Amino acid sequence: MTVPDTRVLGCDPAGIAEAAALIAAGQPVGVPTETVYGLAADALEGEAVARIYAAKGRPSFNPLIVHVPDLATAEAIGIFDELARGLVEAHWPGPLTLVVPLRPGATIASLVTAGLSTVALRVPAHPVMQALLRATARPLAAPSANASGRISPTRAEHVLASLGGRIPAVINGGPTQRGIESTIVAATGGELRLLRPGPISVPGAISAARGIEAPGQLATHYAPAKPVRLEASRAEAGEWLIGFGPVAGDATLSVSGDLVEAAANLFAALHAADAESPPKIAVAPVPEQGLGIAINDRLRRAAADHG
Ligand code: TXA
Ligand code: MG
Repeated sequence: MTVPDTRVLGCDPAGIAEAAALIAAGQPVGVPTETVYGLAADALEGEAVARIYAAKGRPSFNPLIVHVPDLATAEAIGIFDELARGLVEAHWPGPLTLVVPLRPGATIASLVTAGLSTVALRVPAHPVMQALLRATARPLAAPSANASGRISPTRAEHVLASLGGRIPAVINGGPTQRGIESTIVAATGGELRLLRPGPISVPGAISAARGIEAPGQLATHYAPAKPVRLEASRAEAGEWLIGFGPVAGDATLSVSGDLVEAAANLFAALHAADAESPPKIAVAPVPEQGLGIAINDRLRRAAADHG
């Protein structure tokens, strides 16, 4: 996505209202939090989330943190056990992110969780991010507001230097207080696991390294259980075809060949392919450009898992 100019909005009610209107229109907006500036978009809209990836130029899809105004909103999206609830009661609002099981029926876009059945949730303390959450009345997916491979921004000027001309606006809330990303802890059954150290220390959490040794505890990425064949122009016997553009499939990522739409539909298509009866999955070619790079990265990993 290219936009002629990135507007710098004030952190007054007028600026918040403009940012909320852009987010309601499906655009990502730079916004201060107490840790780093985030690039926020409506977490319920897959195409809005795809535009975060398009703006960052990220070559792969990782699950994103969902920001919500309070614990009640978080509990509508994720399932908090006693350990998780104890942590968030002590540290929310604040720089702590909890990875918890996704609540069945929650309507978070599958691109936000990259197809996983867990979701990362955080209630930020920053008054500007809080005001934006209230103004949009939407959960906001937000990774750090920097281009892929660049360091996380702690001032609006950093966001402009990295993403200027690629996003419609950034809210200027001055320098962030913490300067480093939130602590991430997984509470998905069993012990708490530290996935990323950060401003808050969680003495009871075991290291992620140990967590990974316990099989099945926390998948790092979603992949279909069936063999995947790439660059398919049609389905062969026993294959369920994921189409793109001119190749019409059982599900088609985007009939018009739009990569934003295709990214938004990717994980739902993979889940559907896994759920249908054909034992194999075929996928039409997707151009290796823009968001197609991240789409192909995920498809190649899905294919390699059975290679
Ligand atoms: O301070 C912060 O956390 C900032 C501000 C903007 O809130 N956000 C941020 O987001 O750092 P991001 O997207 O750069 O980092 C999200 C991290 C990734 O390392 C991702 O792998 C992990 O969270 N994550 C998200 N969902 C996950 C899940 N379901 N399971 C495991 N890890 C997850
Ligand atoms: Mg980052």
